Amino acid sequence: MKKYCYGICLVISITINILLSIYIYAGGEKNQDISHQLSLTWSEKAAAEAEAVAAISCSGHGRAFLEGLIYDGQPVCECYDCYGGPDCSELSPECVADADSGDPIFLEPFWMQNVADSSILIPGWHRMSYQYDDYTLMSTELEYYIRKLHSIVGNAITEGRYMVFGVGSSQLLTAALYALSSENSSSPSNILATIPYYPMYKGQTVLFNSENFEFGGDTNSWQSNNSTNNMDVIEFVTSPNNPDGELKKSVLGGKTIYDHAYFWPHFTPIPGPSDRDLMIFTLSKLSGHAGVRFGWVIIKDKEVYEKLSKYITVADLGISKDTQLRVLKLLKVVIEKDGKPLFEFAYNIMKDRWDRLTCIFSKSTRFSIQKRHPLHCNFYNETRLPSPAYAWVKCEREEDDDCGAVLEASKIIGRSGSTFSAKNRYTRLSLIKSQDDFEMLLLRLTELVSLEIGSVETM
Ligand SMILES: Cc1ncc(COP(=O)(O)O)c(C=O)c1O
Repeated sequence: MKKYCYGICLVISITINILLSIYIYAGGEKNQDISHQLSLTWSEKAAAEAEAVAAISCSGHGRAFLEGLIYDGQPVCECYDCYGGPDCSELSPECVADADSGDPIFLEPFWMQNVADSSILIPGWHRMSYQYDDYTLMSTELEYYIRKLHSIVGNAITEGRYMVFGVGSSQLLTAALYALSSENSSSPSNILATIPYYPMYKGQTVLFNSENFEFGGDTNSWQSNNSTNNMDVIEFVTSPNNPDGELKKSVLGGKTIYDHAYFWPHFTPIPGPSDRDLMIFTLSKLSGHAGVRFGWVIIKDKEVYEKLSKYITVADLGISKDTQLRVLKLLKVVIEKDGKPLFEFAYNIMKDRWDRLTCIFSKSTRFSIQKRHPLHCNFYNETRLPSPAYAWVKCEREEDDDCGAVLEASKIIGRSGSTFSAKNRYTRLSLIKSQDDFEMLLLRLTELVSLEIGSVETM
């Protein structure tokens, strides 16, 4: 009997081994099949084209793009300011430092380092429909990643809140005004902001020339004149503020649009999550992809959400599906390792720029920049100084009442204080352009301050 049992066990064991071998062998073949099926076909050409243009050397002072400048049928280098020549290797010694625009090119090196993880390839048939499969205009997956990003960074409450995407945050500024203004009121809602404020608020309000809202100017003058009594008011609160980088709160305490374009750990310590009724964010100053044109708004109230959604649908039938795909890919990189690689990279650049800039201005009595106050950052769990996107420069001398002109005479172009409804005595200098642009700005500032203190050596 015992022998009989051993025999059966042996047969079972051999059978199992044979079956396992067949499974592994067949599975291996199947795996080879999959890898064969996955070998690139139609994407090879597009990938080769993308890699070829990326490989064009612009000496680190520019980039070539497929849809950019073309010479003899080939893409050619687009050089940063102050550099020229076919490969951007020629520095123009007399170059003017252009610190006007808020183009966030300072993050380009991060995306060059992370090119493999952040690139996408879009087939010709990709998402031709106006809608996603669930009949919406917004990618559910992208919305999920944005919520995840906010919970990692801790800069906004998104649970139980509605979200709408826009063509950059610029589109959402007007959409928010439309959603918050009263349609049935006899007089239009007054749009206010606190000086110095981002000029687009006034620019868009004037351009849209709506019956429902008009630009009313500065919050503080309205408050001191008690002008808000019985008036419908919508206040833009920019926090951190453009141009001076301050974390702002509402002055009037009524209906507000919180513009959080710069509320990210590389520009400001994050003291806690923002929980406002309506908060606008943008990819432009988070990852530096201003050209992608993507922003989002987080809303508490359902009615406001529905009105804002209606605006986006009627105005544009939503935003590009290609953009949403690209943003998803970028955000997956942003949230890697809980956001540490991107935010560390961006913060270190901004900190270095502020350290060097502060050193120059500390030697001057003719020019000053805004004071920065340390604050506890929940994201880094330590107290840090803000490193705003812009320096808000003041010309201290009585006779320098046009600060922009004073700087321009020293080959520095900023944006005049009057653009922000402040005094001409102030000028905004952008600190988020390319490293080349920043180095030129520092050089020109050093020359200017050296003239004031009478020695180049002491700088
Ligand atoms: C305060 C503020 N809000 C909004 C924007 C618009 O950003 P975008 O339309 O690129 O999202 C900017 C751009 O500089 C800004 O400074």
